[in-house]
Amino acid sequence: MRRNRATPAIRSLVRETSLRPEDLIQPLFVKAGEGTVDPVESMPGVVRHTVASLSEECRRISDLGIPAVAIFPCIEQGKKDAIGSHACDPGNVLYAAIRAIKAAAPGLTVITDVALDPYTDHGHDGLLDARGGVENDRTVEALCKLAVAQAEAGADIVAPSDMMDGRVKAIRAALDLSGRLEAGILAYSAKYASAYYGPFRDAVKSGTVTAPLDKRGYQMDPANLREALLEVRLDEAEGADMVMVKPAGPYLDVIRAVRESTLLPVAAYQVSGEYAQIHAAARLGWLDYKATRDESLLAIKRAGADMILTYFAAEVAESLR
Ligand code: PBG
Repeated sequence: MRRNRATPAIRSLVRETSLRPEDLIQPLFVKAGEGTVDPVESMPGVVRHTVASLSEECRRISDLGIPAVAIFPCIEQGKKDAIGSHACDPGNVLYAAIRAIKAAAPGLTVITDVALDPYTDHGHDGLLDARGGVENDRTVEALCKLAVAQAEAGADIVAPSDMMDGRVKAIRAALDLSGRLEAGILAYSAKYASAYYGPFRDAVKSGTVTAPLDKRGYQMDPANLREALLEVRLDEAEGADMVMVKPAGPYLDVIRAVRESTLLPVAAYQVSGEYAQIHAAARLGWLDYKATRDESLLAIKRAGADMILTYFAAEVAESLR
């Protein structure tokens, strides 16, 4: 076996998987107001952008050959309420951000998150019922309005991350009814109730690591694999254009199984906690930063992901040049 590993040239001939900038999607955070960007402490190198710095960053990302960005708004606490009413407010910074990106980098695909957690004061992805659970159908109605507003502002792909039942079908119908036939749906089909979302909730200020939100009533049990295939099958039947597995690194078996069970493109989301882990260990001098980063992404690709949402996207694309 070692003859095929003897030199860099031979190794490159027999390499089965490779990472390309075209495989990557850059998640980005945006906040309202002018002024300076705001670093996210638990995610070194990640900031909450202003609309101006976001458009500049998107131009750079597009020039690096990355085809898409996923935009997450960070909303001031004073604008949050129990039902997330700011979501569809025309003054929501998300809509200004989408328009600004489209003007700055017209070739870049803009993906938006369809869920209420940036806008609710309790941090859940939907509307609460009397017992404090998330109510499915009323939430789906709210999500349809949000998805249509995002598409109207110029989002190319809407990505429901809320894990309500029937939302893909309802969102597809709402988009079609409003004439947004071209807007695609990237369904967060297998989204697990994961502890790895901690730094993201810090970034959008929807929760804290010390008092984690319990989303197990709608997100998937990390113990389950077959259930992921069922979710994918349903989202496919409801009209999803692409499906997603999230998180990525700890769920490589799920990515592989989903890849083998659907003909749709499969995305994987290397989430905030996976990113933070690599940074933290590298800071302590316990892991080699770049080697670990690249290996983590290659493994996700090898598992079968067609595209990877990762906070490393821009720097990896730069290093691939
Ligand atoms: C919420 C949402 C979350 C992430 C993306 N959209 C967090 C959650 O479900 O609480 C996590 C992304 C990350 O951790 O990087 N709709």
